Amino acid sequence: MNPQGETENTKERKLKDIKGENALLTGGSRGLGPYIGRALAREGVNVALAARTEKALTSVAEELTGLGVHAMAVACDITDGASRKSLLDQVKARFGQIDILINNAGIMTWILRNFGVYDFYRRQSEDNEKAFREEGVRQA
Ligand SMILES: NC(=O)c1ccc[n+]([C@@H]2O[C@H](COP(=O)([O-])OP(=O)(O)OC[C@H]3O[C@@H](n4cnc5c(N)ncnc54)[C@H](OP(=O)(O)O)[C@@H]3O)[C@@H](O)[C@H]2O)c1
Repeated sequence: MNPQGETENTKERKLKDIKGENALLTGGSRGLGPYIGRALAREGVNVALAARTEKALTSVAEELTGLGVHAMAVACDITDGASRKSLLDQVKARFGQIDILINNAGIMTWILRNFGVYDFYRRQSEDNEKAFREEGVRQA
């Protein structure tokens, strides 16, 4: 333990300084998304928010801008390849690069009847993660 009371383990668990980095946050319009967006903005991270409903996204983007970072809202259906490509093009045009991907947009199994565990994992891993990987963005 050092004089500040930190052990090696404490140091390892500290987040790195991400101030000034650029994040792409899918599902940023409601539910958990705005909370994640606010947490990123408070760390000084610029946030690109994506979801299908633009009006709600724009409202969250305005809130994040008020926290002193750059924020943008892009309407996108992440299950659609052309829509994902357009999203990435727009974010890179504005931010230059994407440092952090939080692929939060998703589905909850109990909402969808007749939707099995296999379908859930296929949607999550193939449609969402693989989709972004194929387009050159790694999930954080
Ligand atoms: N809430 C929980 O207790 C909980 C627990 C475990 C895991 N999770 C996971 O956490 C994530 C977020 O959950 P949540 O409760 O915040 O969900 P939510 O309230 O339903 O919000 C989902 C978000 O994703 C967006 N979205 C949905 N489908 C999309 C699509 N095809 N393309 C782009 N955006 C899309 C929605 O906006 P639009 O509809 O406008 O597109 C919305 O912004 C999900 O992956 C969920 O499985 C949540």
